[in-house]
Amino acid sequence: MSETILVETGDAIRPGNPPMVERYRLGARINHWTTAIAMVLLVLSGLAMFHPSLFFLSTIFGGGQNTRTLHPWIGIILSVSFLVLFIQFWRANLWNRADLSWVAHIGDLVGGHEEKVPEVAKYNAGQKFVFWAMALLILALLSSGIIIWDEYFSNLTTIEIQRIALLAHSILAILAICVLILHVYAGIWVRGSFDAMITGSVTAGWAWRHHRKWFRQLAAGTAGEERRSRES
Ligand code: HEM
Repeated sequence: MSETILVETGDAIRPGNPPMVERYRLGARINHWTTAIAMVLLVLSGLAMFHPSLFFLSTIFGGGQNTRTLHPWIGIILSVSFLVLFIQFWRANLWNRADLSWVAHIGDLVGGHEEKVPEVAKYNAGQKFVFWAMALLILALLSSGIIIWDEYFSNLTTIEIQRIALLAHSILAILAICVLILHVYAGIWVRGSFDAMITGSVTAGWAWRHHRKWFRQLAAGTAGEERRSRES
């Protein structure tokens, strides 16, 4: 297992009062929120088609026909947007040995003893789980979704395969909704995370508390740069 790349392009400590740490560049944030909005719209339009008791949700999209037409196109937007997110974030989400010891200390974290949890790099094991789970689920949802996209692809497969794909698509969507709820809940639970994804930066205190390994790496880089500029 390789050591995670700790620092991404754009990550930096900005001296000031209080000192801030750049965590997400503007492009990454726009990319993230496009993905998030697409996902929420997919959940709403998908649920509208999932069960008659939820059909009322189709009014958001201008009725049943429009919901059915729009849902797969929003799925394409989500897939492309997530692919761009994936290309930017996959390295920092690589699994390593330290993640196992984070998982072993999950009780301390939930019990409010974060100081007992091993130091975390840019992402903790929970965030990495969400990342890879979303990557696999989106790929599987896209594949099964294309098979059941009647308008363009109904001739490519048999009705039996389409029935299996429809069942798989529904089960995968429920799993994706569970992962999304976990992701949003974690973002609310770790106060300051939303600031990271909205403004792009976090306080040095937040970085020290929740992602100390990442912070140390950035501090070492900043100290190195300052030394170099003093020497030149
Ligand atoms: C309403 C929906 C969403 C909310 C409120 C939300 C919120 C957040 C927040 C607050 C962070 C920053 C966490 C941190 O830096 O520690 C974050 C990071 C991230 N989000 Fe979301 N998000 C949402 C939907 C999504 C969706 C649908 C996806 C992908 C399908 C996604 C993928 C990511 C990724 C990849 C990161 C970077 C952390 C990592 O790589 O594990 N988010 N999100």
